[in-house]
Amino acid sequence: MSSELHVDQLRKVFTTGKPPVEKAAVDNVTFTIAAGEIVVLLGPSGCGKTTTLRCVAGLEHPTSGQIRIGGTMYTDPQAGVLVPPRNRNLGMVFQSYAVWPHMTVRQNVAYPLKARGTPKAELEKAVMQALDLVELASYADRPVTQLSGGQMQRVALARSMVYQPQILLLDEPLSNLDAQLRLRLRDDLRQIIKRVGLTALYVTHDQTEAVVLGDRIGVMRDGKLLQLDTPREIYNHPADLFVAGFTGASNVIEGRLVSNDGAFGTVAVGDNQRLTARLAAGVKVDAAVKIALRADNVLMAPVTEGPNRFRATIDAQHYQGTQTVYQLGLLGARIEAMEVGSSARFEQGATIEVGLPPEICWAYPG
Ligand SMILES: Nc1ncnc2c1ncn2[C@@H]1O[C@H](COP(=O)(O)OP(=O)(O)OP(=O)(O)O)[C@@H](O)[C@H]1O
Ligand SMILES: [Mg+2]
Repeated sequence: MSSELHVDQLRKVFTTGKPPVEKAAVDNVTFTIAAGEIVVLLGPSGCGKTTTLRCVAGLEHPTSGQIRIGGTMYTDPQAGVLVPPRNRNLGMVFQSYAVWPHMTVRQNVAYPLKARGTPKAELEKAVMQALDLVELASYADRPVTQLSGGQMQRVALARSMVYQPQILLLDEPLSNLDAQLRLRLRDDLRQIIKRVGLTALYVTHDQTEAVVLGDRIGVMRDGKLLQLDTPREIYNHPADLFVAGFTGASNVIEGRLVSNDGAFGTVAVGDNQRLTARLAAGVKVDAAVKIALRADNVLMAPVTEGPNRFRATIDAQHYQGTQTVYQLGLLGARIEAMEVGSSARFEQGATIEVGLPPEICWAYPG
């Protein structure tokens, strides 16, 4: 049944090219996934998400580090331990629809149980349960080639769960689907995984997917795990400027820290103005700081109370129907702000008052 996963000081170095160059695709990554928990690894292309997942699967041999599943050591290269993938009892779903084209839906899902010599009655019951779960019971006898992409991916999911793996590994399973289907299956996936209570490691570069699916999100960059936290923590207290930017806080205001009052501090910005910001670790008085700010966190007029109220000019207005994105001239920087709704209250050229509540201004070492 579902188990805890421990990844400890995982490192994978690839050597490529002539002359050979070494590069750490995974660089001392440590994390634990509790039994029944869904953890999503999120990060830009090439940051080491797939390599981490492949190490857990046993498909990749790490350079060093340890991987334990349910208390059993599966990977420990220093001690010569490398349990092969087939003996790890893991379910895997990949980007491409890895279904067998010459089989029906039922035969595809039954395959892993057959390979394990499961008795017929038990097999049939488990297959129907798995198909019910992904809502494909009425398609059981269809050849998989007559399914849509989303249905094929649900077959792959049913097949990866039918033998009750200890851990489910998913590598961008939705990225080949069209936008609408991707949204639907995204919401379904979490429910399905939760209903079975599986421990899951899910890899994606899509932030919304990570937020919707994950109990916790691990943000990676250049092989390193920068922050592993609940979606709320990642979105409200990003650990560094990269995590802030990658999860959408792409506005940056440069300044200098004037005073440090503990959790918050005063920053000199723009034309000798003062802004109160929440301070990340490592910021120092008199040193440069960079303040990250989400477009959707900027309060637009009328703002009549609270600290951090400033004049801003509307330099551009991009009406998008259900929301409007504005380019603001604010504190000497170009700042994006977002207004939800179809009304677009501010015209280009206008001057307005905006509010930047201190708790949404995150100051990092500049
Ligand atoms: N077999 C390999 N040989 C050499 N380098 C590799 C190999 N596999 C991956 N890499 C490198 O390791 C790094 C991490 O690759 P990985 O596939 O884990 O990234 P990723 O985060 O999954 O990216 P994507 O979002 O594009 O799938 C990349 O720089 C990649 O080029
Ligand atoms: Mg990948």
